[in-house]
Amino acid sequence: MKINNVVVIGSGTMGSGIAAQLCNANIPVTLLDLKTEISQKAKERIEKSRPPLLIDKSKIDGIKVGNINDDFNIVSEADWIVEAVVERIDIKHDIYDKIFKQRKKGSIVSSNTSSIPISVLSEKLTEDDKKDFCITHFFNPVRYMDLLEIVKNENTDLDKIQKLKLFCEEDLGKGAIVCNDTPGFLGNRIGVYAMQIAMTEAFKMKLTIEEADAVFGRPMGIPKTGVFGLYDLIGIDLMADVLKSFIKELPENDNFQEVAKEIPLIRKLIDTGYTGRKGKGGFYRMNKVDNTKILEAINLETGEYSPSQKIDIKSEKVDLLKLINRGDKYGDYAWSVISKIIKYASSLVPGITDKGFENNKFLEELSKSKNEDFYGERQKYTEIETLGKIKPKAIKLDGNNSAEIYRFNDFNIVEFTTKANALDYDSMDALKKATDKPLIIINESMQFSAGVNLTYTMNFAEKGDYSSIEKFVKYFQDTCKELKYSKYPVVSAPSGLTLGGGFEVLVQSNFVASHTNIVVGLVETMVGLVPAGGGCKEMLWRWSQTEEAKNDPDYAPLKVFDIIGYGKTATSPVSWRRTKILSRHLKQLLN
Ligand code: NAI
Repeated sequence: MKINNVVVIGSGTMGSGIAAQLCNANIPVTLLDLKTEISQKAKERIEKSRPPLLIDKSKIDGIKVGNINDDFNIVSEADWIVEAVVERIDIKHDIYDKIFKQRKKGSIVSSNTSSIPISVLSEKLTEDDKKDFCITHFFNPVRYMDLLEIVKNENTDLDKIQKLKLFCEEDLGKGAIVCNDTPGFLGNRIGVYAMQIAMTEAFKMKLTIEEADAVFGRPMGIPKTGVFGLYDLIGIDLMADVLKSFIKELPENDNFQEVAKEIPLIRKLIDTGYTGRKGKGGFYRMNKVDNTKILEAINLETGEYSPSQKIDIKSEKVDLLKLINRGDKYGDYAWSVISKIIKYASSLVPGITDKGFENNKFLEELSKSKNEDFYGERQKYTEIETLGKIKPKAIKLDGNNSAEIYRFNDFNIVEFTTKANALDYDSMDALKKATDKPLIIINESMQFSAGVNLTYTMNFAEKGDYSSIEKFVKYFQDTCKELKYSKYPVVSAPSGLTLGGGFEVLVQSNFVASHTNIVVGLVETMVGLVPAGGGCKEMLWRWSQTEEAKNDPDYAPLKVFDIIGYGKTATSPVSWRRTKILSRHLKQLLN
C-alpha cells in the first residue's frame, strides 16, 4: 500500500492542518468542505498561519480545494481519505456513506474524531469496509504536535494500520501510537487526568494557583501556563463538558472518576460567566484599577480575586528527581501530582495499547531495576531512530552540568542539558572534548540551543568586568573553530529554537540534519548585541559564494547586514536555505 494521493474532508482547524502537513511531505492532497469558498478560505488561512503550518509556502498549490457535491469523485483516486468534519456523529455517518460508495478498493478511510469511539463511528459500515477504517487523531497545530493516535477497531486490517503508522512517522514526521478504542484514547485520557490531579491536589494541599502553576509548569517540562492558566486557555466550561463525558464513558471504579467530580468553585465560575480567557476571566483575570491593568488570581478557598503574586521556585532546569526531593510544599505537591499521574498512566497501558505491561508491574520493575534513564525510553513506540532510542544502547562517556557525551558505535553524541540549552563554559568543554571522533550534536527538546547564557555574561557586565566577557567570547570562538576544523565530521541535528550561539554551533557543522520545526537565526541584535561566535563570518562567506556577489562586492555584506541587523529567523529548513544559513558548499568542507 502506497499513499500517493490524499483527500481530507472538512477544512476547519484540523482538516487544514492535516492537509498542510501532507503538503509539507509533498503528497498531493485535496481539501473538501461544504462549499469551495470554505476550503479556499482554509487554504488562505494555511498560507498566513503563524506559526506557519507550511514548511515551504511556495508549495501551497500542492493543496487542491473543492466541495463535497461537485468534486467528490476525487475520492475515487485517493489512497487515504481523512474525515475531519465537525464532531457530530450524524454528519460523520453521512460522509462515510458517501465515501465508501465512491472510494477505490483497499484505500484507507480515517476519522480525526477526538471523542467518538470507533465502535460508534463504524457501526454502519460493512465488515469488509471496517477493515480499512480507523481513527487518526492528530493534535493541533498538526505540524508542530508530535503525537498521533491511531485507533483500530476489531476488524481493522492490522497490516494496513502498520503501514499507515509507518507513513505517518516517516513521511509526516509524527510519533504515532496505535491505541485501542477507549475513552479519550491515550493523550486526552492521561492529559486530562494530569490536569485534574494537578488541580485537585492544589486544592487539597492548600497551594495558591500561582504556586501550583509555578510547579506544574516549566519545572516539570510543561508549558508555563501551568494547570490553572491552561484551564483558562482551554475554557473552564469546555473542560467541564469533557469531564462529564469521561464520567459517563468510564467505569465507576476508574480512578479518573475521583478527580473528575464537579468542584463548587468551578460551577460558580461557569455560572457567572468566568469561563476563562474567552469569558470575563477565570482563575486569573485582568482587572482595571485606576486605569491600570492588573493581573489578578483567584483564592481557591474564598473565591475572591487579589493581585497575582509572582512565584519563583528557583528551578533552573527540568530535574524531576530534585524537584520531588526539595522537602518543601512545592516538592511535596510535585511528588503528589507526578506519582499519581504515573500510577494512573501505567495502569492504563494494557487497556489502551497492546503493550504487555500488567497493572503497575511496569512501575514495580522500574523501581527494582533502579533505572533512572526512564526518559531515554520515551520514544519507544516510534519506528524511527531517535536520540531517545539510541541512548540506552550508547555508552555514557562523560558529562558535566551543561551537557552529556555519549559514544555510539564509532561516533560521539553531545546533548545539551541546561535551561533552554543555553551555552556556557561547560557546554563548550563538552563540545571540544567530543571532537576526538565523528560528532553528532543533537537535542530532541523544544530547543537545540536558545543561545549563549546571557545572564552569565550580564553578571560580568554589571560588575564592569569586561575582560571576563572577552575571555568567555574568545572561548566560544575557539570552540566553534574546533568544530569547524575538526579532523572528523561534525553533524548537527537541531530541533526547535536554534538561535544566536546555538545557531553559531550549527553553522560550523559539516552536515545539518534538521527537524522541520526549526526556528533558526542570529537574533543578537534584538538584545543589543552583535553575534560574536563566528555567525557573522559564516553568513558573509555563504552569501559571498552566490552568483550575484561575484559581480557586486556590496551584495553579500548588504544581504548579511539585513538578515543579522533585523534578527531575521527562518522557520523551516527550506526557508533557511533561502537565507543561505545552510550552504550547499558545506559538503565540500569534508573533502
Ligand atoms: P472545525 O469546526 O474547525 O471544522 C469543521 C469543518 O467541517 C468546517 O470547515 C465545516 O464547514 C466542515 N463541515 C461540516 N460539515 C461538513 C460536511 N458535511 N462535509 C464537509 N465538511 C463539513 O472543527 P475542527 O476543530 O477542525 O475539528 C474537526 C474534527 O477534529 C472533529 O472531529 C474534532 O473533534 C477533531 N479534533 C479537533 C481538535 C482541535 O483542537 N480542534 C483536535 C483533535 C481532533
